[in-house]
Amino acid sequence: MRVALVQTNPEFGEIKNNVTSALSLMESVQADLYVLPELFNTGYNFVDETEIEQFAEPATGQTSLPLCQFAKKRGSFVVYGFAERAERVFNSAALVGPSGTIGVYRKVHLFDRENLFFAPGDRGFPVFDLPIGKVGIMICFDWMYPESARSLALKGAQLIAHPSNLVMPYCPDAMVTRCLENRVFAATADRVGQESRGGIDLRYMGMSEIVSPSGEILQRLSTDNEEIAVLEIDPELANNKKINSRNDLLADLRADQYSPH
Ligand code: ACM
Repeated sequence: MRVALVQTNPEFGEIKNNVTSALSLMESVQADLYVLPELFNTGYNFVDETEIEQFAEPATGQTSLPLCQFAKKRGSFVVYGFAERAERVFNSAALVGPSGTIGVYRKVHLFDRENLFFAPGDRGFPVFDLPIGKVGIMICFDWMYPESARSLALKGAQLIAHPSNLVMPYCPDAMVTRCLENRVFAATADRVGQESRGGIDLRYMGMSEIVSPSGEILQRLSTDNEEIAVLEIDPELANNKKINSRNDLLADLRADQYSPH
C-alpha cells in the first residue's frame, strides 16, 4: 500500500482554494491512499457557531466531489477531515474511493473549543476493508485516548488514517506508542501555519508522519512547509500481534481486570 501524507496550510474559510491546493499536491504523486488533515477544507479556528453553520457541508457536499473525481481518475482512496452538516454538526473525516463516498467517521474526543461548535461523534471507530488493506480512522485528539487506536486494532485495522490539526507538542511521539501497543501502522496527516482569529492564536506543528507496527517513524515531514510524501508499506505486517513466543498483544488482553471498580 502506497500511503501519501498530505500536509497543507489551509486559509480559513477559503474552501475552494484549500481543496484546489491540496489536490495540486496530491496530483504530484501516485498513491493508493492519500491522508489529508482534519478540517483541511475550512481551516480550524472557528470563532462562533455562525461560522460553523456557514462552512459545514454534508458528506457528499462540494468538497467530496473533486476528491471523488480524483479517487476515480487515480484508482485511489482519500481520507480527509471536514465539518459535517448532518442532524448536528460533527468534526468528521470521510473516506472516498473510485466508486464515491465509502464512509464517515465523526470525532469522538473533541478538543478544547471544538466542544463549543461540534457535537461529539457517537458511532464509534470505523474500519474499512478495502482492496488495498484494512483502514481505520480516528481524528487528532483521539490519540490522547488509547482506547481509540485500541478499538481500531481490535476491529482489525492494519493502518490508522489520522487526520489532525496538532496544537500540542506530544502527538507525533505519542503515536509511536499507539502503534507499538497495537502493532498497527498509523498515518498522521497534520497541517502547518498559524490562525489568529477572534483573539485566539493557534499554531500548527506539521510533523505529519507514518509510524510502523514496531514503533518506527518511517517518515516525518517538516514543521513549517506544505508538502507531500509517499511511502510504500506492507499492511500485512500489522496482522502479527506477537511480540515474542509467549505474548500476543491482543489475545493477551485482560478485559476483566481493567474495570475501575
Ligand atoms: C485537535 O484535536 N485538533 C487538537
